[in-house]
Amino acid sequence: MPLRAAAGRDLAAYYAARCAVCHGEEGTGRGPDGARLGPLPFADPRAFGKATDAELARTIREGQGAMPAFRFLLSDAEALRMVKDVLRPMAGKRRR
Ligand code: HEC
Repeated sequence: MPLRAAAGRDLAAYYAARCAVCHGEEGTGRGPDGARLGPLPFADPRAFGKATDAELARTIREGQGAMPAFRFLLSDAEALRMVKDVLRPMAGKRRR
């Protein structure tokens, strides 16, 4: 896939490096720091609720509660791609 590099960073790898510590490799919320901070599993209906992809991307960039803000680390487009390509599949449901 020649376009892959142009498509940007591998966000699944980014997730594993920066998010799994709290959210767990599979989004279970059981990463090493997850036990203490207690994020919900992404598959829990309460985790994403009715939030749209754009709203979840904003949460990632702005942080929420014990979750740090990633606005200086992930662009808008990257946060959105994180939601669509990495988090939604972990939650077992995909939306547009
Ligand atoms: C220091 C631990 C920590 C890290 C690192 C972290 N999160 Fe979180 N995250 C949390 C906690 C705790 C919550 C629940 C916040 C609340 O509502 O109190 C949360 C909430 C969320 C939510 C809102 C939905 C939900 O489950 O409540 C999303 C989406 C999310 N995180 C994605 C990410 C992504 C993507 C990354 C990596 C770029 C990341 N998080 C890194 C701890 C973390």
